[in-house]
Amino acid sequence: MRLIEAANYEEMCAKAANIIIFQVKEKTDSVLGLATGSTMMGVYKQLVEDHRQNGTSYRNVRTVNLDEYIGLAPDHPNSYRYYMNQYLFSHIDIPLSQTYIPNGASSDVEAECQRYEQLIESLGGIDLQILGIGRNGHIGFNEPGTPFSVPTHVVELAPSTRQANARFFPSLEEVPRQAITMGIATIMKSRHILLLASGTAKAAIMAKLFEETVTTDVPASVLHTHPNVTVIADQEALSLV
Ligand code: GLP
Repeated sequence: MRLIEAANYEEMCAKAANIIIFQVKEKTDSVLGLATGSTMMGVYKQLVEDHRQNGTSYRNVRTVNLDEYIGLAPDHPNSYRYYMNQYLFSHIDIPLSQTYIPNGASSDVEAECQRYEQLIESLGGIDLQILGIGRNGHIGFNEPGTPFSVPTHVVELAPSTRQANARFFPSLEEVPRQAITMGIATIMKSRHILLLASGTAKAAIMAKLFEETVTTDVPASVLHTHPNVTVIADQEALSLV
């Protein structure tokens, strides 16, 4: 696991964006694994700015998102599909038909998980997967206790995760209780993984992660067993390491 330290959120986003831009220029038909949450907003902003200024093209890129809430239609303002269109896809030249997100409104969510897993395989796997980290160490929506061997699956969200994400919803009650997420097994097949962490809210979990004990209690700790992981974190997130 390589650690790149950043002074602050802006710098973390710029460094992450540079890695993504480099990947897309090196391999124009890259498969990018994307994430949501506040951590990613600044990264996508940088990608959009770079696209405008330097014309980096995403015409042949394919994207697969980590997760989606169950029960929210793609046009629901709190769905991750809506987030991705709003912060990234509407501002770059990627055809929407090349952007994939699990369908949380599917009438058969188990079948949707299988379909999504197969889809990733049919794209040739993920070249670069971007991850945020939950305060309890979750990656995607793989909550503590999830076996590392599980592929894309349906999860019950931990009360603390619903609480943490409630800020995006009108009330806690409206935060979905379930989601579809790539499993840890899916994430671990990615050729390169980029984990981002910013702010004091992530300091405790980052300290735990750097204890280097691999345990399902801290889902992100599995990354210690992957050969090609880059962590970019700012000073606040690293303040307890
Ligand atoms: C959410 C997402 C994760 C994300 C995490 C951190 O629950 N499913 O993919 O990494 O929370 O979010 P934030 O960046 O807002 O702290």
